[in-house]
Amino acid sequence: MATVAATAPKRTLRRDPWWLESAGLLVLFSAFILYSVYAGLVNANYYADPYLSPFYSPCISANCAHLTFGAPIVGEWWNLAPAIFIVGFPLSFRLTCYYYRKAYYRAFFWSPAACSVPDARAAYSGETKVPFIWQNIHRWTWYPAVVIATILAYDALLAFRMPTAPGAHTYTFGIGLGTVLMTVNVALILLYTFSCHFCRYLVGGRLDRFWGRPLSLRLWRAVSALNVHHGRYAIWSLISVGAVEVYIRMLAMGWIRDPAFILGQGFVLR
Ligand code: FES
Repeated sequence: MATVAATAPKRTLRRDPWWLESAGLLVLFSAFILYSVYAGLVNANYYADPYLSPFYSPCISANCAHLTFGAPIVGEWWNLAPAIFIVGFPLSFRLTCYYYRKAYYRAFFWSPAACSVPDARAAYSGETKVPFIWQNIHRWTWYPAVVIATILAYDALLAFRMPTAPGAHTYTFGIGLGTVLMTVNVALILLYTFSCHFCRYLVGGRLDRFWGRPLSLRLWRAVSALNVHHGRYAIWSLISVGAVEVYIRMLAMGWIRDPAFILGQGFVLR
C-alpha cells in the first residue's frame, strides 16, 4: 500500500537550490531598508567635504549641512532630516520597478517563490487590486528619477573639488576614494535608470514601426541592449548607493580617513 508521503503531491519538482536567490535578496533588502531608515532619520554625519551622501541629495532645506543649490528651497520651519523631502522619489521608482517587483514578491511574499514553485497563498489576484494596482505609477516615477540621477552626477562632479586644507573654503582639483565611489555609484544609477523598461518604451517601444525614425531605432536598440542587464544594474546600484552612504558617514564621524590625490599636495590621507 502506498504511504501518505508517496501519494502527497510535491510542492515543486525542482531539485536545485531555487530558494537561494530569494533568501539572498531578502537579506540584502532587509539590511538596506533598516540602514536607510536609520541614515535617513538621524539627520547628522551625511556631509564630509566635498562628499554629500546620496541619501540626502538634493539637500534643499535650510538646516542642510551642504545646500545642493546654494540656497534653501525649504525654510527654517523644517527641523527634521532633509532626507525626508526626497526619499519618496527614489523609493517609489525602485518599489514600482518591474525587476524589484519580481524580486521582492519572491523574497518577501513567496508569490510566486520561484519559477515552477507554487505561491505560498492559495489565492492570487496579481496586481489588480489596491495597493498593488498602484504599481502602475512606475512610468511617472521615471522622470523624477532622471532628475535625481542628474543631481547625483553633479554631486560626483563636485567631489573632484578638494578643500585645500581641512575646514578651508578654498578648493583645488583632487580625487579621493570618495570621488571614485561616488562616480561609480552615479554610473550604476544612470545605467539602472536608462535601462528601465519604461525608458525602452519611451524611446521607441511605443512606436508601431521604425520606418523613417532612425534616431528612435538607434535609441531603442541602445536601451534594449542595456535593458537585458536591468536586474543587475538594479542590485549593483542599490549596493553602491548604500556603500557610498556608509563611506561618507564613516568619514564624517571621523572613523576613517579618505586617501586622496590633491593637486599641489600629492597623495594625502585627509
Ligand atoms: S523597470 Fe526597473 S526602473 Fe523601470
